[in-house]
Amino acid sequence: MCGIFGIITSENTEIGKIALDGIKRLEYRGYDSCGIVSHKDGQLFIKKDSGKIQEIQEKLTLDDLMGNIALAHTRWATHGAPIKKNSHPHLDCKGEIAVIHNGIIENFISLKKELLSKGHIFQSDTDTEIIPHLIEEYIKKGIDFQNSVIKTLKRCKGYGIVICYSKEPNFIIVARKESPIIIGIDRGKVSYCASDIPALLPYTRNIYILGDNELAILRPGEVKIFDIENEVKKIERPLKHVDWNIDAAEKGEYEHFMLKEIFEEPDALRKTLKIPENDLRLFAKELISAEHVYITAAGTSYHASLAGKYIITKFLGNYIQEIECSELENQLKDSLRDNSVIIAVSQSGETIDLIEAIRWARNAKKNVKILSLTNVVGSSITRYSNHTIITQAGPEIGVAATKTYTTQVFSLALIGLEIARERNILQKKEIELYYNALKSTPDVIENFLKKTNHSIEKIVDNLERNANYFFLARGISIATAKEGGLKLKEVACRFIEGYSAANAKHGPIALVRDGFPIIFIAPPDETYKRLIGNVMEFKARGGHIISIVVESDEIISDLSDTIIKIPQPANKYYNLFSPITFIPALQLLAYHAALAHGLDPDKPLNLAKTVTVH
Ligand code: G6P
Repeated sequence: MCGIFGIITSENTEIGKIALDGIKRLEYRGYDSCGIVSHKDGQLFIKKDSGKIQEIQEKLTLDDLMGNIALAHTRWATHGAPIKKNSHPHLDCKGEIAVIHNGIIENFISLKKELLSKGHIFQSDTDTEIIPHLIEEYIKKGIDFQNSVIKTLKRCKGYGIVICYSKEPNFIIVARKESPIIIGIDRGKVSYCASDIPALLPYTRNIYILGDNELAILRPGEVKIFDIENEVKKIERPLKHVDWNIDAAEKGEYEHFMLKEIFEEPDALRKTLKIPENDLRLFAKELISAEHVYITAAGTSYHASLAGKYIITKFLGNYIQEIECSELENQLKDSLRDNSVIIAVSQSGETIDLIEAIRWARNAKKNVKILSLTNVVGSSITRYSNHTIITQAGPEIGVAATKTYTTQVFSLALIGLEIARERNILQKKEIELYYNALKSTPDVIENFLKKTNHSIEKIVDNLERNANYFFLARGISIATAKEGGLKLKEVACRFIEGYSAANAKHGPIALVRDGFPIIFIAPPDETYKRLIGNVMEFKARGGHIISIVVESDEIISDLSDTIIKIPQPANKYYNLFSPITFIPALQLLAYHAALAHGLDPDKPLNLAKTVTVH
């Protein structure tokens, strides 16, 4: 939520250009308003407004700001409507201190009252604005800038923040309590900070990750990190290397990131195949020895967890309970036992509900283990986990998760197979058949995408006559139905229900009329026979049946009005991994439906990629 970018150099330069590029690369974190402040020769210059970055650039030419410091922000509104006065940066009364912020200052109301009583005049409805005013208050008392910031931050909760002061042109201050901040240094001359890695990729791949309750002083090409509570203690932090390729964070020849990232799925899966065996073994051993296993996540990662639960449970011989991370504490507060393992799944590794859930579990029971799966090296989730596996999707810029979903399910499948190997429950030959099927999923998707992208556009044309539709499935494919439905909601703004086909006759079927579209996800697994009955029930009521089936399928294909074929063999080894091979069809459907509605699939209404508020 909200993208922040800061830069400091030793000389005046066209700093607006770099700052603008920085927030453009973070636009997936929020896009309802944006702004940049630059410092030049003892003065701050600010440009900001509501709207998407490109619109504001065209109106205000953000890129012509000059100076040696710039702070830039792209907003996802929490406190205060998305209008100009609430966009960042925010200033103190004198216009000397500028702040950009991500997160929510939970205690801002009492602090604002205190500042108002001291005569401060506020320009916005945001929680953020209390920060420059509070710093100003300490500076008035004769305290220097750095210590004024520390005193201010000690009184606040909930921020990733960057601050500059016109009277201190040689450094900026960056701090974090919960919301992520990374720092990059380029050739000893320039320092950067941002809320996410893609913003720094054009400049450096060597980054520092700021921890919770830490503050950093950034001078050109130099960084010093301190603990906010114990500010004299300097923290030595090793540099982390990010091997993401910058091309992966650019659109290239594609019109949208979402389409590009769907087409990147085969390669992302091939890379994920290289997860170190030791990590898989470690996960497998922890899961085998656990008494209770839970899997938890939010959004798309939750659907990946649902698919993963079916795969892992099959080989673990112990039930895995999936729980939405925001509900983990509510559901387990009276039952969590030691010797439980919680698998936490998160693309960003920063979803606040997930971080809080695992922090709660670790505090509740000493011997609970957290195994995490994330796409981002060094993200917050890794700090609260006993072991972490990094999925290899690379940067994902489209707000709707696509390649990160398939790599999550793929990683969970690798863990499942490692468990089968460790437990010695299958013949060697049979394990090999499962492995071969899993390894072939990138090829299946590649073939499918080559053949089918355009025919999906035609299906969308037909669907668009209807306002709502269902995605129905049984067994492991319920995860696919739910994830496909979520994609359409996110990018095409349609009300789609992803539901269990069996349960759909207990209510949802009441909506079906002549021509009502129902998409059945129908791999030829053990649920297929019963699904035929469900297809018949909906067909008998006039439903327009679209089915996603394997190429050799006959029965459900014959019952369907429209068929999408997935080029994979019909056998139990492949069927287990159908959540990976079937989902691209629904991702494409959502993408084309968004275009048909004139919507930008990369920037869905009201959404942000990384959700760092409750
Ligand atoms: C947001 C994103 C979703 C994502 C969810 C969980 O809602 O828009 O795409 O699935 O957060 O994020 P995570 O980073 O924890 O996977």
